[in-house]
Amino acid sequence: MYRPRRYLMCPPEHFRVTYSINPWMDLTKPVDVRLAMAQWSDLRDCYRSLGHSVEELTPHPDLPDLVFTANGGLLLEDRVLGARFAHPERYGEAAVHEEWHRGQGRSEFQRAQHTNEGEGDFAVTADWLLAGHGFRSSPLAPQEAQEYFGRPVIALDLVDPRFYHLDTALCVLDDAPGEGDGARSTVMYYPGAFSPGSRAVLRRLFPEAIVAAESDALALGLNAVSDGHHVVLPQAAVGLLDPLRERGFDPVPIDLSELLKAGGSVKCCTGELR
Ligand code: ARG
Repeated sequence: MYRPRRYLMCPPEHFRVTYSINPWMDLTKPVDVRLAMAQWSDLRDCYRSLGHSVEELTPHPDLPDLVFTANGGLLLEDRVLGARFAHPERYGEAAVHEEWHRGQGRSEFQRAQHTNEGEGDFAVTADWLLAGHGFRSSPLAPQEAQEYFGRPVIALDLVDPRFYHLDTALCVLDDAPGEGDGARSTVMYYPGAFSPGSRAVLRRLFPEAIVAAESDALALGLNAVSDGHHVVLPQAAVGLLDPLRERGFDPVPIDLSELLKAGGSVKCCTGELR
């Protein structure tokens, strides 16, 4: 069911690809900052037109990936588990997010002990927290999150480097509490991104899931943001449109091709303030 949301975004003013920490980042491909800004602004305006509010983080010249605000932490029921980034190039982003949350008067902020890249690897369902690990977040991050939030955590093992964060391989479509148990939350995911055991867990928990084809996953189609009704997703992921409509969702395609050059898309650019 639709619920208006609060999102945290950061304009890609200093966006560039000057290091490569995932297979999408090709240092030889030029980046058009103006186009990135225009595409990013379309995404922000799209959220506002759907009734959501968007807060903006101030961009930082030394932190080109700060545009991917989903990675800054996990805010849930007014508690924040801050990120601890895997790569030195991104270490500095954690403090920017911490400062922003503290500036909002949020006192329940915990600095993570184990590496986690925020909503890049954590996804919230009605009853659970899904936690990806394998490339970025530590295998100890799920336990740390469970302890901090007091919410059961399902750890999922990522095995394909192209899908290095959980949010590149899985999207929660409906996280409304009170709409049945977690097993009835709707998700879409690409099975090839997960280990055989994690695939079996996903089949068990989400028998009704939309199972994405590799071509849609490679368009980063799973890096989508759902408000419970509208699903904003990269426009090249055309194979997801019908399955979403069949389940009563309203897909909203958007072009973020410049940001894809850093391995990110819709969800990466969108931190949710729950
Ligand atoms: N270049 C960034 C990195 O590799 C992209 C982060 C994308 N964010 C995400 N939530 N998947 O860290």
